[in-house]
Amino acid sequence: MTARVPGASILGTGRYLPDRVVTNAEMETIVETSDEWIRTRTGIRERRIAPPDVGAAAMGAEAARQAMCDAGVEAGEVDMVLVSTATPDRLLPSTACDIQALLGTENAAAYDFATACSGFLYGLSLARAHIAAEQAETVLVVCTEKMSSIIDWGDRTTCVLFGDGAGAAVVRRTEDEGGILSSFMKSDGRLAELLYRPAGGARIPMDISVLDERSHYVKMAGPEVFKSAVRSMCEAADGALQRAGLTGEQIDFLVPHQANMRIIEATARYAGIPMEKVIVNVDRYGNMSSASVPVALDEARKSGILQKGSTVLMVAFGAGFTWAANVVRL
Ligand code: ACO
Repeated sequence: MTARVPGASILGTGRYLPDRVVTNAEMETIVETSDEWIRTRTGIRERRIAPPDVGAAAMGAEAARQAMCDAGVEAGEVDMVLVSTATPDRLLPSTACDIQALLGTENAAAYDFATACSGFLYGLSLARAHIAAEQAETVLVVCTEKMSSIIDWGDRTTCVLFGDGAGAAVVRRTEDEGGILSSFMKSDGRLAELLYRPAGGARIPMDISVLDERSHYVKMAGPEVFKSAVRSMCEAADGALQRAGLTGEQIDFLVPHQANMRIIEATARYAGIPMEKVIVNVDRYGNMSSASVPVALDEARKSGILQKGSTVLMVAFGAGFTWAANVVRL
């Protein structure tokens, strides 16, 4: 008799969004842009920006606290803290260890992983794999991004696109048939330099010339990223649906990465999911990298749009390039 591999389900979700709203009108005072350009190209109307003294760990810990409260899970029950961030407070040690300390999850193992905007989907897959391998029963997946700290506020081609925020989920071992039904992950490192921070790491450490050239900030080849994002999100959606044995018509809601309204529409069209079944918040928060999907999931669960039993396709694409999707029954 073969032993059944334990399943994993999302027990609770949470989010942190800074209070400060920066509208497109305010962006017009910072760089040469217009509300009309930003809205028609991306769908973004405003974004949130965190205060200078609030970092990725504090933001992530707040989202995680809400997720634990939603799930009814105490700090001591958490076996693992998995953190996705492109904006760690420090390069050593990990943001996951900082978040573990803030939460008091002293029984947990904690580590960071770097898959940029695809982080929540990679995180759910990692949590599911750790649970299936019986290394953990209760896993916190935390996505926290202070994008305002790594964008060049003088570069209008990037600074209008991003916002700060954090989202989290508690994933727990389950014996029933629901939960995370399928996972799909893929990467292509050959395309890394279409969306990256050229300097400030080990190969080109931070020095005065890096600061002068502003090469520690995000650089992006927007139109190339756009094309890859559409292609890859469609592939990821297909992969996760096939592995779950479902079609787009059997999906109750799509929660896509929130980079750009046109990418969201193209992905939904390809997957055969009408826009009224697509959760969108890019208009209010911009692109919060890996935090976009869990924040959208949390808002949709807490507003009652997503309910227990809803079948949800989540899909994302990010720097690396990385792309991933999960089908989840809530
Ligand atoms: N305001 C006004 N004009 C602008 C701005 C701005 N903020 N930014 C660029 N422009 C100008 C450009 O200079 C260019 O002018 P030119 O024709 O005189 O040279 C013109 O607008 C068109 O620029 P394009 O780059 O061709 O504009 P496009 O229609 O491709 O839209 C955009 C740009 C929105 C960045 C689009 O390419 C895109 O969304 N790409 C994907 C970006 C993305 O999603 N990144 C993140 C995914 S991965 C992740 O989430 C980390």
